[in-house]
Amino acid sequence: MQVSTTMSSPLTTIADIGKHEGQTVTLRGWLYNLRESGKLLFPIFRDGSGVIQGVLPKNAVSPEIFEAVKGLTQESSVIVEGKVRADKRAPGGYELDVSDVQVVQRVSENDPYPISLKEHGVDFLMEHRHLWVRTPRQAAILRVRAEIIKAARDFFDERGFTLTDPPILTPAACEGTTTLFPVDYFDEQAYLTQSGQLYIEATAMALGKVYSFGPTFRAEKSKTRRHLTEFWMVEPEIAYATLDDLMQLAEDFISFLVKRCLDRRASDLQIIGRDISKLAKIEAPFARITYDEAVKLLQEGHAKGALENNFEWGGDLGSPDETYISSQFDKPVMVHRYPAKIKAFYMEPDPDRPDLALCVDVLAPEGYGEIIGGSQRMASYDLLLKRIRQHGLPEEAFKWYLDLRKYGSVPHAGFGMGIERAVAWICGLEHVRETIPFPRMLHRLYP
Ligand code: 4AD
Ligand code: MG
Repeated sequence: MQVSTTMSSPLTTIADIGKHEGQTVTLRGWLYNLRESGKLLFPIFRDGSGVIQGVLPKNAVSPEIFEAVKGLTQESSVIVEGKVRADKRAPGGYELDVSDVQVVQRVSENDPYPISLKEHGVDFLMEHRHLWVRTPRQAAILRVRAEIIKAARDFFDERGFTLTDPPILTPAACEGTTTLFPVDYFDEQAYLTQSGQLYIEATAMALGKVYSFGPTFRAEKSKTRRHLTEFWMVEPEIAYATLDDLMQLAEDFISFLVKRCLDRRASDLQIIGRDISKLAKIEAPFARITYDEAVKLLQEGHAKGALENNFEWGGDLGSPDETYISSQFDKPVMVHRYPAKIKAFYMEPDPDRPDLALCVDVLAPEGYGEIIGGSQRMASYDLLLKRIRQHGLPEEAFKWYLDLRKYGSVPHAGFGMGIERAVAWICGLEHVRETIPFPRMLHRLYP
């Protein structure tokens, strides 16, 4: 394909088009939709940064150009020249009076773009995820995702945390052995990481305040709207921090992320259809309730008929339980001090009640459930060794981790936030599958 990729007028993007009001500019993109009404064509273009409607009267352009656009197929790639005109009724505030169009590749009528503007079922869209990401709503979600990732990095970078990357191939489990993805590692058995935590505990002892941000894997056979088998987690870890320090960090962090999206991604949130007024309320401090108090709430909920099952102390909170608790608050709520029995082996026991772990889960409002899980870490060598044995974990693989308790052990704490859960909540989505370009779930490995 031989095309010159610019025209003579200045190249810009739809996002920046407001800076060129009254000027003739070039856009490079795709035909999103076309309305025809006799001698007038209304092509809608998208270029990755946004969508704009063009106006093409027959008498304003050469017959060749008019004919090239008339009947042009959806998602054909085009380079367009036109004059930018403010129009209050237009979604982005501008329209383009088109003067020239170069078709880069015309999509064949015989094999049209599969995703038309009518409704499609989710399965069909998931099979065509490589194309589905082009729709304005999906593109807007991906821009919010990128903003949240950038904001997460900025938050920790600006507060003296050092980014340290844990390995993805690991010899042992972090979050329990049931959800490991095994990998053949030459003659050894390895697993894809479930969390970088154990490794950043080591780097925290080297650098004080650290964080990691990377992909994590869980062979979860759950088909819920919150579970992926591959997801991205941001994890801070801090030497000399306690559970209280951690809870404060979590609420500052979440407030920062939401504010950043409101400041920089309001137009995308609007495209997605998010009720922004709900996000505007998200500001630290958040409610902090103990697991005991959460159990009481759930039991009251059951008594009122709002919950089917009567929750018993000692159980782990399931999705309906989290949904119910979070629906009682219009900000995220932090549930702390769960029974140690239902939590990971590495959590520090509460000195006042050793059957509880010094841990916290942050539940997002509007029924989104857990977006952050974290804890103070066990500082004692003897107790940690005992727990590793109790959990039936391979002691050899944890020798290095135990070393951290031999050489200058200190109280320390950290948490993990799943990026996709945060994106789902901030965008107000039904399901995490739309929060990542190519979701990996039970029964979903394609495309
Ligand atoms: O609560 P989790 O399992 O905690 C840990 O992995 C700790 N090691 C983190 C730490 O303390 N550094 O997972 C943390 C978060 C959850 O709150 C959730 O947001 C997300 O990771 N998450 C998932 N997101 C999507 N799909 C899944 N299957 C997820 N499992 C956990
Ligand atoms: Mg958790």
